[in-house]
Amino acid sequence: MKIYKVKNYEELSRKAANIIAAQVIMKPDCVLGLATGSSPIGTYDNLTAMYESGDLDFSQVTTVNLDEYKGLDASNDQSYRYFMNKHLFSRINIPMEHTYVPDGTVADSDEACAAYNETLHKAGPADLQLLGLGHDGHIGFNEPADHFADETHCVDLTEVTIQANKRFFASEADVPRQAYTMGVGTIMRAKTVLVIVSGEDKAEILNQVINGPVTPQVPASILQFHSNAIIVADEAALSKTDL
Ligand code: GLP
Repeated sequence: MKIYKVKNYEELSRKAANIIAAQVIMKPDCVLGLATGSSPIGTYDNLTAMYESGDLDFSQVTTVNLDEYKGLDASNDQSYRYFMNKHLFSRINIPMEHTYVPDGTVADSDEACAAYNETLHKAGPADLQLLGLGHDGHIGFNEPADHFADETHCVDLTEVTIQANKRFFASEADVPRQAYTMGVGTIMRAKTVLVIVSGEDKAEILNQVINGPVTPQVPASILQFHSNAIIVADEAALSKTDL
């Protein structure tokens, strides 16, 4: 794993956006795997600024997002589709029909996951997959488990994740208990994986991801086996990691 240590969230966001920009410039019709959460917001702001200054063109890019809460539709401001439209897609020149997020409104999990797998197969492996890191080591919504899931599946969110994500909802009871997520296998097939991690509260889990054993109990640890995994983390997030 290549690890870039940066000062703070602002530097992290600039560095991550520059890496993604390089990908889009090198291959204008690339497939970008995208993520939600608070970590990528600054990255998306920087990408938007590069688009506005005329340095980036997204007209040929395709995006595939990692995950979506089961039961939430695009008009729900807590859905990941809403998040992506707000923080990135509506601000750049990507055609909306090139943007894919699992459909949280499909009640039948098998049907929803099969449909998203078909989308992912058609798009092909992502040229670059952006990832945040959950407090329990999850990537997308691949929670700690006894095995690594290959493709899109429905997950029960862990208590740690429900607690971490409740800050975005009116009350804890409103946090969906299930989500559809891209599998770890699909993530591992991306040609480049870019993980962004910020803050002291991620320091312990980030150390496990980098230096601990590869185990489905810490899903992101499998990225140790990826041939082109890049971690951009700030000093606080790396405060428990010897580099
Ligand atoms: C959610 C998302 C993940 C994200 C994680 C971390 O659970 N499903 O894809 O990486 O949160 O979020 P944050 O960046 O807000 O810490």
